[in-house]
Amino acid sequence: MKQGVKIALLGFGTVGQGTVELLTKNLDVIQNRISVPVIVDKIYVRNPDKYSHVALPATAAFVTDYKEILQDSSIDIVVEVMGGTTFARTCIEEAIIAGKHVVTANKDLLAEAGPYLMELATKHHVDLRFEASVAGAIPIIRALYDSFGSNQITEIMGILNGTTNFILSKMSEDGLGYEEVLKEAQDLGYAEADPTSDVEGYDAARKLAILGSIAFNKRIFFEDVSCEGITQIDASDIQFGKEFGYTIKLLGIARETKKGLSLNVHPAFIANTHPLASVRGSFNAVFLRGNGFDEAMFYGRGAGSLPTGSSIVSDVMEVARNVVQGKTGEMKQFYYPQKTMYSSSKIESAYYIRMTVDNSTGVLAKVATKLAEQRISAHSVIQRKADNDTATLAIITSKCPHAYIQNLIDSFNHLRVVREVGSVIRIMVE
Ligand code: HSE
Repeated sequence: MKQGVKIALLGFGTVGQGTVELLTKNLDVIQNRISVPVIVDKIYVRNPDKYSHVALPATAAFVTDYKEILQDSSIDIVVEVMGGTTFARTCIEEAIIAGKHVVTANKDLLAEAGPYLMELATKHHVDLRFEASVAGAIPIIRALYDSFGSNQITEIMGILNGTTNFILSKMSEDGLGYEEVLKEAQDLGYAEADPTSDVEGYDAARKLAILGSIAFNKRIFFEDVSCEGITQIDASDIQFGKEFGYTIKLLGIARETKKGLSLNVHPAFIANTHPLASVRGSFNAVFLRGNGFDEAMFYGRGAGSLPTGSSIVSDVMEVARNVVQGKTGEMKQFYYPQKTMYSSSKIESAYYIRMTVDNSTGVLAKVATKLAEQRISAHSVIQRKADNDTATLAIITSKCPHAYIQNLIDSFNHLRVVREVGSVIRIMVE
């Protein structure tokens, strides 16, 4: 029987350090649970001097050539925590080909090449695990392929990005505007100096692609997810939403219906009573529906050193158990033959529309006529005087396909009494 399982790290930033910290802090617990110790051996970094202040386990040493790890036959598992898609992909592919098991947190790479890497791992009889790539500490990937493996998953609805949830929560709680809160989030270190990936929804879309491919057994990549971010959300939308009984969230939604699969990231209003409405600040949550378990929700930290390290170490432990029991490389492929995708323009939803109109007689009737022409009914309307000449209308519509709403907005834009359509936001109703 093996006396220990040796791991090497590629990268030693926040997540790598959290991984080593957890392995050190919970050494005994981990060893008791998997019967052998996990030994941290080589750590690949470009410049070891940068980490001279960090205490390493006695077994660990920095290397500046990643090939030293690949050529060391005593290393069982390579933990990739560098990020990026080019060099990281080269390292992972070479590690797999060298017969190493791989644990990675790299969502960008998995959303670009996950299915290919899985196939490569299967071909070389090694394990590839990536729990930390989606929603940090939340064990959602294992839940989908293992705990809920007996179910057909019909819907995933997730708050998959902590930065945007922090921004929207703060806008909602403090009544502040987007730009102001973004700046505060950057000053506090929650949002990056270039926040594009988070605020445009790309980060959430990558995570949704990974979840969707496991839940629906289809090769799904980042470009399969249609994506809208939060940059257009105005403080007044959040205020009107409150009056209608809604909370705003950036949601990643993946559904499998008889018509096909749909994957979308966009801001949406949800009822204040929905379990996701209570997820505040930088936390993540994933709400699932399945044909056996019905509904389930997972909540936790989506990022950070120890929370992300927690998922990485749990993957390392799963692989280490397989190594000890001689059962590596046995995970079945997730992907079946192609399934059809369902165009996001056909997806039905209720909508919130905010617009600035002339403050004069007959305007509401003209707006109502355009709604009727598109066979869309208005469920609720709030009208507020904006200034002497204009008023703001906030309308909640009945459910209709996105294409109908686009036609409606076009027709509003051709009405002389409509000064501007400010916001169009989906509403998630049962
Ligand atoms: N930037 C991400 C977030 C964390 O804000 O949730 C890493 O995926």
